[in-house]
Amino acid sequence: MTNIKILAGSNRPGRFNIHVANWVHDIAQSLDTTATIELIDLQELNLPFLDEVHTPMSGKYENKHTIEWAQTIKETDGFIIVTPEYNHSYPAVLKNALDYLFAEWQFKPVSFVSYGGMAGGARAVEHLRGVAGELSMFDLRSQVMLPSYWEKMDESGAYQFTEDQAGQVTKLLEQTIFWAEHMKSARSVLQKP
Ligand SMILES: Cc1cc2nc3c(=O)[nH]c(=O)nc-3n(C[C@H](O)[C@H](O)[C@H](O)COP(=O)(O)O)c2cc1C
Repeated sequence: MTNIKILAGSNRPGRFNIHVANWVHDIAQSLDTTATIELIDLQELNLPFLDEVHTPMSGKYENKHTIEWAQTIKETDGFIIVTPEYNHSYPAVLKNALDYLFAEWQFKPVSFVSYGGMAGGARAVEHLRGVAGELSMFDLRSQVMLPSYWEKMDESGAYQFTEDQAGQVTKLLEQTIFWAEHMKSARSVLQKP
């Protein structure tokens, strides 16, 4: 069974992030796929700032929260990161969650859904692509961006996601699942002694 995780990458009170992450998750549930697609909310995960003695490259994890986080990511085959743009980059909570681990991220595809001002979170994702490379992840070209989302709220303050955006998310999910399945079998060869 292929396992995909959507990472909700902002923990700010009142964040827009969780609405986007839930929307992506809802679209994922409507897909005709055997993959399991789950949402991980970094606000709920509530990891402390990296507090391991050894570097993640050593794989020597001591804290319960690190061991549990490592297990969650180890059993995942592909990722969709939902991120805002903070000062032309992405939130610290997301960097912290990525920095905790190393081998568990390797050789797995990652795609991005971003939002922010006019650039739609594009600069946050550019920074994430560099981090993904260092973690030996496979960052997919496809990306969904929601620029100046606050201009597209209805009277109740709810963002109006369009059919076109939903179609872009569907393609991004399908590509992430495709590569997750293929890289899973490639990893099984790679990891043989
Ligand atoms: C610390 C901070 C820095 C920000 N910097 C940028 C930025 O560089 N570019 C941008 O497009 N939006 C920026 N914004 C606006 C955010 O995109 C917007 O507030 C968004 O709602 C933040 O995501 P969140 O609500 O999920 O936390 C910034 C917001 C915060 C809180």
